[in-house]
Amino acid sequence: MALASIFDRRPPDDSLETIAYDVERQGYAVMPDFITAVEVDALLQVFHGLRQHEDALQPAGIGRGDDYQTNNFVRQDWIHWIDGTTAPTQLFLDRMRDLQVTLNRRLFMGLFDYEAHFALYPEGAFYKKHIDAFQGHSNRRLSTVLYLNYDWQPTDGGELRCYDPDEPNQVLFDLPPAAGTLVVFESERFWHEVLPAKRRRFSVAGWFRINTSTSSRVDPPHWY
Ligand code: OGA
Ligand code: MN
Repeated sequence: MALASIFDRRPPDDSLETIAYDVERQGYAVMPDFITAVEVDALLQVFHGLRQHEDALQPAGIGRGDDYQTNNFVRQDWIHWIDGTTAPTQLFLDRMRDLQVTLNRRLFMGLFDYEAHFALYPEGAFYKKHIDAFQGHSNRRLSTVLYLNYDWQPTDGGELRCYDPDEPNQVLFDLPPAAGTLVVFESERFWHEVLPAKRRRFSVAGWFRINTSTSSRVDPPHWY
């Protein structure tokens, strides 16, 4: 056995380790059954509960700070930021914290914080090709999307279309938003879009961030 192979990482069998391994190798990871059907149902129940409350879901915007605006031509999803005040969302945040620990241990990413929102794409809605973080202008390092849709058919559209970082016009993969699947990708490298969904599409989108503390200001961590 070559000496070097002792230090090579073998494909792991644990899902968090597999995600770290795939992100390290290719900058992204797709993990079916990241959460169980019971956990999907529990998150959907929270989501449906929110939809009973007027204003709980807001039209998503684009841009940051003063540049923030809603733009129906770019994206048409409705969102609600997750604060972990329900058991299912707390469980989800705990799981993402475990993933954060694994990513930091394996890839030394210095991930500090995670923020996430429910997203509802009504029938016909899309999110045009975009990138989640521009280099040097954001503390978002890794994007995550967890899907909550059972029996998604090819004719339902609504795939996450991800482009090759080295060839941004070349499609890398189309991912149907199937219940329980988690996708993770480097926020600054991957252009992506949500193709028009022909039926309502439920998901949780999130971002691992690095600390942007300066000597005069310390970011509070964002865990609940
Ligand atoms: C986003 C996004 C992709 C998806 O919310 O920024 O790109 O598949 N979502 O929902
Ligand atoms: Mn995005």
